[in-house]
Amino acid sequence: MTANVPIAKRARPAVVAAFDRIARFYDAAILQRVAYRPNHDAVVSELRSGGAQRVLDVGCGTGILATRIWRDLRPEVIYGCDPSSGMLRQARQRSRDVRWLQGSAEQVPLDDGALDAVVTTEAFQFFDQPAALNEFFRLLEPGGFVVIAMLTAPVSAVSVLTRLAPARWPTRERLRRMLEDAGFEVHHQHPVRPLLGPLSPGFATVAVRR
Ligand SMILES: C[S@@+](CC[C@H](N)C(=O)[O-])C[C@H]1O[C@@H](n2cnc3c(N)ncnc32)[C@H](O)[C@@H]1O
Repeated sequence: MTANVPIAKRARPAVVAAFDRIARFYDAAILQRVAYRPNHDAVVSELRSGGAQRVLDVGCGTGILATRIWRDLRPEVIYGCDPSSGMLRQARQRSRDVRWLQGSAEQVPLDDGALDAVVTTEAFQFFDQPAALNEFFRLLEPGGFVVIAMLTAPVSAVSVLTRLAPARWPTRERLRRMLEDAGFEVHHQHPVRPLLGPLSPGFATVAVRR
């Protein structure tokens, strides 16, 4: 998928290679239940109240959330997109109802205005964030919305360390500004508390495409 894609629109190779390596063990991680599920719950709840029918989960990983969106909400169509072949292999085994796509948040193989909602959990920190938000804007119809949910680096020491790692967690304020710059109106931001509580604070942001 990458042969003709400009570098800036690819996911970072080191990140993709890391997820390829851990894909087989990813679902077994206690992390799934303890830390990630609250953000999945938040996304499902936002999609339910927004009534979205054409939904993309980007950075879908092994497809736990996209499969749940299909099972719980039965939208017209649900896509799961990820650059990692390893993660997508697990996802394809999980569901045939979700349409799995190999691509990056910076370049999703769907037409302009193809979607009512784009969601992403625990993946935004790996994206080229301004490029990804421009891509979400392109993919959404006016009035469509994004839900971005993630745990954040808990303490400043971790934040310092993550500057060395290929992940960038924006603050709420920074994410709000980036969304506005990309043409979105932030509707709300709220904390999402995983069982780890204050050790790993998370938040969800919902923004509407103008
Ligand atoms: C921590 S996993 C999260 C998976 C899933 N969303 C979840 O909640 O369990 C991060 C995922 O982001 C994907 N990813 C990394 N860089 C990406 C990019 N630029 N575009 C889209 N997905 C990316 C990885 O391949 C991986 O599957």
